[in-house]
Amino acid sequence: MSMPDFGALRTDGLSARLQGLPTHEEVFARAVREGLSKPGQKELPSIYLYDEIGTALFETITLLPEYGLTRADERLLRRYAPTILEHLPPPVVVAELGSGSGGKTRWILEALARREPVVYYPIDMSPSALAKCQHTLSSLGSVSVVGLEKSYLDGLSEVAARRRMGETLLVLFLGSTVGNFDRAAAERFLCEIRQRLLPGDALMLGTDLEKLVSDLLQAYDDPAGVTAAFNLNLLARINRELGADFVLHNFAHEVRYDADERRIEMHLRSKQKQTVRVPAADFTCTLQTGETIWTEACHKYVVEEIPGMARRTGFVCEAQWVDGEWPFAENLWLARPSSTSTP
Ligand code: AVI
Repeated sequence: MSMPDFGALRTDGLSARLQGLPTHEEVFARAVREGLSKPGQKELPSIYLYDEIGTALFETITLLPEYGLTRADERLLRRYAPTILEHLPPPVVVAELGSGSGGKTRWILEALARREPVVYYPIDMSPSALAKCQHTLSSLGSVSVVGLEKSYLDGLSEVAARRRMGETLLVLFLGSTVGNFDRAAAERFLCEIRQRLLPGDALMLGTDLEKLVSDLLQAYDDPAGVTAAFNLNLLARINRELGADFVLHNFAHEVRYDADERRIEMHLRSKQKQTVRVPAADFTCTLQTGETIWTEACHKYVVEEIPGMARRTGFVCEAQWVDGEWPFAENLWLARPSSTSTP
């Protein structure tokens, strides 16, 4: 399972039509049709988990006692922000792929603002996420927040075009979002990031680490059922936006750990044989009893493999910080002089 190209999504239906581009709804419909008509394992792309409701449910997941990932990420940034910045020559401009609510990033921005005025570019396809981030960070003096409503790579290209000579660009890719790509796609994406940077620029990459399988299963199948609601909301979204007739209680949230791939997988299991219509995709899908739709992959890492990933994608791993409570690593990579990768 790979993540689709965020750049293929167009939010403004009218201007998309005027330019002859597919609208958001058309792109979504095509992704649903393709994923559900796969001959083997049916799939839905995980980016579609994050509509307004899905984003709110994900924010709730980050508060759950069983899901330690976000707290570990924030603990590391809060504790080590000043040390992280020692590696980055001023002036520094910051871009973040996926703005989130801005809560974690404030530690880096606060530490930076103590030494210089900062420009911070959160990049996100969601205008409401950008607005929330702007609101959270509005109290920080000396930080100008410039939200970019774009795909990650288009947004980063724009930041690269706007940067001034002599500035160090720090890209934040936090929260182990990289783990939602399959490993090969993750490295391709990291190469794409590198191509938009100059030597000496930095990437702060958050990676969730391997841990007890029982802890992982609980984190993605919490007893309060928040992650189940997050997963099922994808079907509800297809009903809302594409006029489909999924009956949600005919599906069950299922979480598996694939030890070979070192990843959690989220699925939706069909509780009975059923047929679902998706009018906007001009498509009908039949599911057998017990058949699943794969909705998300969450890859886990060991700290020792991260420097190799950095080398292969045109970076050098400068430093790593690991949380003591929930195995999670913050990895600071620097762009190597040549953008060619080495094995
Ligand atoms: C956004 N991403 C890093 C989360 C993860 O852990 O892979 C998404 C998530 N899915 C279920 N719970 C959290």
